[in-house]
Amino acid sequence: MGTVFVSGALPGGVTAWLAGRHDVVQHDGGVATEAFSEVAPRLEGLVSLLTDRVDAALLARAPRLRVVGNVAVGVDNIDLDACRARGVVVTNTPDVLTEVTADLAFALLLGAARRVGEGDRTVRAGAFGGWTPSYMLGARVHGATLGVLGLGRIGRAVARRARGFSMNVLYTQKRRAPETVEQELSARFVDLAELLGQSDFVSVHCPLSPETRHLLDRERIASMRRGAVLVNTARGRIVDEAALADALATGHLAAAGLDVFEDEPRVHPALLSSPGALMTPHIGSADRHTREAMARLAAENVDLVLSGNPPKTPV
Ligand code: GLV
Repeated sequence: MGTVFVSGALPGGVTAWLAGRHDVVQHDGGVATEAFSEVAPRLEGLVSLLTDRVDAALLARAPRLRVVGNVAVGVDNIDLDACRARGVVVTNTPDVLTEVTADLAFALLLGAARRVGEGDRTVRAGAFGGWTPSYMLGARVHGATLGVLGLGRIGRAVARRARGFSMNVLYTQKRRAPETVEQELSARFVDLAELLGQSDFVSVHCPLSPETRHLLDRERIASMRRGAVLVNTARGRIVDEAALADALATGHLAAAGLDVFEDEPRVHPALLSSPGALMTPHIGSADRHTREAMARLAAENVDLVLSGNPPKTPV
């Protein structure tokens, strides 16, 4: 039994489950609330959302904190070094969201390539003037080259989908994947420059870290193939949004499929007015079963640590 702050309404009765085991305080406003400040001095567990900043200042206010269960696979909202220094265990929610996030990445890839958002807006506006041979031509997906930036769990699931579309798959990351994985996915390891220069589609699946912040900067975006499509379902800050908007405006990139943004929930105004940008509001893992599984896993991790056991999915 410890005091646990739950930062937001969790689906699937997870908060009630946790409240059966611990003294739970839940507040929808997250860690930036009075409710959190009030409970912080006696806090032992935190179920955090990706919108919560868990940094050294927060840890200093919660000196008894032992575990942070983030309801996300990404942990860029958490200062891992500061947690380590204080002996605070951090957990995330891998695996349970892999396939649904890959589904959304592929939906954005297809939708951006084939101008689905633009087409929908055109029809709704009553601006569909009838079929003509060169009306609203898009980019061909079947047989094209996909560059996967980060062949982790989600990157692999996207590569697997790409095989069903007869795509040629390239990937890059720090360390080469095992040969068995490369063979299963028919994926070829290349460096970032080659991936950007060769790919018709680039899909981002690496974590956000100081190393990957603006990994796709203005220069690298300029080095992508003319007419290429960029898909980002990882974290907005991996891509220089202003440079991306410029590349769409000049036609250097044909389209972009974006589920994440640099400064959420704000979206760069130039993207909002870009017909080639197909955008969703950070819903990569948003189906009911997945969100329940994520919440349950985060709560179980917190409960395990508070009862002296190793968590299921430590970072
Ligand atoms: C969502 O963005 C996550 O990291 O789970």
